[in-house]
Amino acid sequence: MSASPDFLLELSRAARGAPESGIVEVVNYGRLKEGLIPLWVGEGDLPTPAFISEAATRGLAAGETFYTWQRGIPELRQAIADYHGRLFARPFSAERFFVTIGGMHAVHIAVGLVVEPGQEVIVPSPTWPNVPAAVELAGGRARILHMDYAATGWTLDIDRLEALIGPATRAILLNSPANPTGWAADEATLKAVLAVARKHGLWIIADEVYGRFSFTGERAASFHDVADEANDRILYVNTFSKNWAMTGWRIGWLEAPPAFGPAIENLVQYTTSGVPGFLQRGALAAIERGEDFIAFQKARVGRALDVMTSALAATNRVSFAKPDGAFYLFLAIDGFDDTRRLALRLIDEAGVGVAPGTAFGPGGERFLRLCLARSESHIATAADRLQDWLRKA
Ligand SMILES: Cc1ncc(COP(=O)(O)O)c(C=O)c1O
Repeated sequence: MSASPDFLLELSRAARGAPESGIVEVVNYGRLKEGLIPLWVGEGDLPTPAFISEAATRGLAAGETFYTWQRGIPELRQAIADYHGRLFARPFSAERFFVTIGGMHAVHIAVGLVVEPGQEVIVPSPTWPNVPAAVELAGGRARILHMDYAATGWTLDIDRLEALIGPATRAILLNSPANPTGWAADEATLKAVLAVARKHGLWIIADEVYGRFSFTGERAASFHDVADEANDRILYVNTFSKNWAMTGWRIGWLEAPPAFGPAIENLVQYTTSGVPGFLQRGALAAIERGEDFIAFQKARVGRALDVMTSALAATNRVSFAKPDGAFYLFLAIDGFDDTRRLALRLIDEAGVGVAPGTAFGPGGERFLRLCLARSESHIATAADRLQDWLRKA
C-alpha cells in the first residue's frame, strides 16, 4: 500500500493562510482550570432573555422550519428599519437591511460585495482579528493603519489614513466602538474618515456592533449621524449577539444600498441560504422589546469598568486608556511585553483568563483584553486576584 497522502499539503492557499486565533490558544490552555474566571472571550455571561427564546420556540412550534427569505423575513427587516428610525430619529427603509448569520457573516458579505482579489482594505489596528482575516480569505489584503496609544485615549490619525491609500485601495473598515481598545470615533473623526472616503471613491465598512455600549453617551456616534445614505458608499455591519446576549444564535444584519439587494441575495444563497426562520422570530422579539435589557447590560458593564479600573490603577503597575465604548478593558502591565506568556501565567497563577494582545494585530502586542460583560461578583473577584498577583509579580 502506498503511503498516506499528506493532506495538509493539499489545503488551498486561503485555508492554509487563515491565521490561528491567539485567543483560542489561551482558552484551550485554561478551559478546564477549576475556579478560573474567564474574561477572555468577547461575550457576556448572561443567557438570552426568556422573552426572546420563547419567541423563537413559538416560531419553531409553528413550523417555521423551511427555507426562508434570503434577505430575512419582511417583519424582521421592517423591525430593524424601525429600530434605526428610533435610534437616529429619522425614517429608514426596510429595503436597506439584510439578515445574516451573525455580524461575522455580514463582514464576509460586505467584503464580498465590493472587494476584488488583490484589492486592499484599510483596517485600524489593534483590531478584532476576524476582520482582517475575512479580507484575506476573500483574496483581498488588509492594510494596517496603526492607531496611537496614550493614557488619555487611542487616536486615529487621518493624515496617516490618507497616506495609506493607493491604487489598490478599495475600502476602509472602521470598527467603532472598537474591539479590543474600546476607542470610539467621535463625530468629527467619522466626518474626517467619510471625507477621505468620498475624496478617493472608497467604500466604508462600518462595524458598529458595539454602538449601544457607550460609556460617554446614550449611544456611540455612528456614520448614520454624518453620512448621506443615498450617495455615500457605506456598508454597515451589525448583530444581535452583543445587545441581546445572543452570541450563540448566529444572527446579525448588514445594511447596504438597496441596489445591492439582488447581489446580497445571491451571496446569501451560495453561502448559508438564509437564516433559520424561527431564529428570526427571536430576533424580532429582541429588537422590538429588548431596550430594557440593553440598558441593564450597559449599566452592569459600566459598574464593572469602575471596579476593574480602580482596582488595577491602585497597583500603579498598569496602563490603559479608559474605553469610550464596547465592553472591554485593554491594558498593559509594566514589565510584561510577552502577553501570550503573560496570559498563560495569569491562568495558572491568578486564576483569571484574559486575551493576549498578540491576538489583536500590530500595536496590541503589549496589552491584555479583559471582557467586562460579566457578573459583579466575577468582576470583583477577578479584580482582587489581578491586584494580588500584581503586588507579588
Ligand atoms: C468588532 C466585532 N465585529 C463583529 C463581531 C461579530 O459578531 P457575531 O458574529 O458574533 O455576531 C464581533 C464579535 O465579537 C466583534 O467584536
